[in-house]
Amino acid sequence: MDKIAVTGGRALHGSIPVSGSKNACLPLMTAALLTDQTLTLTNVPNLADIGTLSSLLGSLGASVTHDRDANRLDLRVARLSSPLAHYDIVRKMRASILVLGPMLARDGAGTVSLPGGCAIGARPVDLHLRGLEAMGATLDLRDGYVHASVPRSVNGGRLRGVSYRFPVVSVGATENLLMAATLARGTTRLVNAAREPEIVDLAECLSSMGAQIEGAGTSTIEIEGVDALSGTEHRVIADRIEMGSFMIAPAITGGDVILEGGRLDLVSSLAEALDAAGVSVEEVPQGLRVRRRNGRLNPVSIVTEPFPGYATDLQAQMMALMTLAEGTSSITEQIFENRFMHVPELGRMGAKIEITGNTAQVTGVESLRGAPVMATDLRASISLLLAGLAAQGETVVSRVYHLDRGYERVEEKLRACGASIERISGDD
Ligand code: EPZ
Repeated sequence: MDKIAVTGGRALHGSIPVSGSKNACLPLMTAALLTDQTLTLTNVPNLADIGTLSSLLGSLGASVTHDRDANRLDLRVARLSSPLAHYDIVRKMRASILVLGPMLARDGAGTVSLPGGCAIGARPVDLHLRGLEAMGATLDLRDGYVHASVPRSVNGGRLRGVSYRFPVVSVGATENLLMAATLARGTTRLVNAAREPEIVDLAECLSSMGAQIEGAGTSTIEIEGVDALSGTEHRVIADRIEMGSFMIAPAITGGDVILEGGRLDLVSSLAEALDAAGVSVEEVPQGLRVRRRNGRLNPVSIVTEPFPGYATDLQAQMMALMTLAEGTSSITEQIFENRFMHVPELGRMGAKIEITGNTAQVTGVESLRGAPVMATDLRASISLLLAGLAAQGETVVSRVYHLDRGYERVEEKLRACGASIERISGDD
């Protein structure tokens, strides 16, 4: 397993290009199941999860052409040859559950392995399943699989439009039901829907395939089902979490970096927190410019919430920053119940953090010290790397396969801004 070694203490200066969003691209790829024509995605990031989902779609009958150099993916599902999402693939990536809604919408049947546990929380998929049931699907949970079908007695095997209120906001369940509703009979109203930019991106792609959708980006989305969707070409939205992660790099090292292609509207909660911490974020023609104002950082307290609130996927990175603030910050994680695994690792670098329930009290120190640390999940990994950029001496982050799921060319992007960082290939 690869490791990444960082020697800290250099202020970062330069430009970092923002890649296409992983979390937008995954649902967009599953939208290919809704049509027999070609869906072309551009600005596709080169990440392991994209390959995993491509394999899954291939096993369902998709022909997949991935031009990695051009960041382009062509997907065509002329017919669903096997509506079965096998455990071997689903266990690698929870977003695989997103094939269920489209398969049911297209052919009235689908079988998907239940995703197993996850490091950051239980992450059940009950909301996806309850919503599809409300649309007329019959579910049979057996042998670790969800066997779903729409009985012929329901609209001749076609899902029906419903008014469905999500009991809690869920990005994935909103995406699954949104896709399912595009081909359902009648109108679907999704209430308390997620408002994340990835939902808006998906709705834009579906609309250009011929779907009738209103309200994406608000908490109520209305979808009028149509008989068929066509192919289209769609550019994947910028990755706001990659962007936000790299915004912390000049903040924590005292540098000045431009995020090329960055958009303030995608990271406004983070930008507000950074501003309060003493880091300026401004829109420039190339994207976003982030630079640290003079002196030590101010402590800032955050609470994670669904969009447009502060993103859980940027919680670990903000915690790394706050370890160096002058004073105490509190960081409350409301979305996932086990998303503080970076805390003991940051502690090994000299950070002072105490956890009570779902809140971490971070008391800033003057400096961090490099140490060997272990990545436990995707966003925890980048937080350790960010801490390493600011720490004295060398930090070696192991288990960076977590990092590789969400950050492409991470060493290259940071090195271009002056970071001393290298990948060490090999066994752990
Ligand atoms: C998406 O996960 C992202 N993944 C996550 O990013 C992100 O952390 C999360 O949204 C929240 O923003 C992708 O887009 C591929 P949810 P998702 O359904 O859709 C509970 C990363 O680091 N819930 O919005 O799975 C759930 O347990 C990843 O890139 C249910 O109870 O998240 C959580 O507490 C990690 N039942 C809350 O809702 C359900 O059926 C929000 O989860 C579904 C969710």
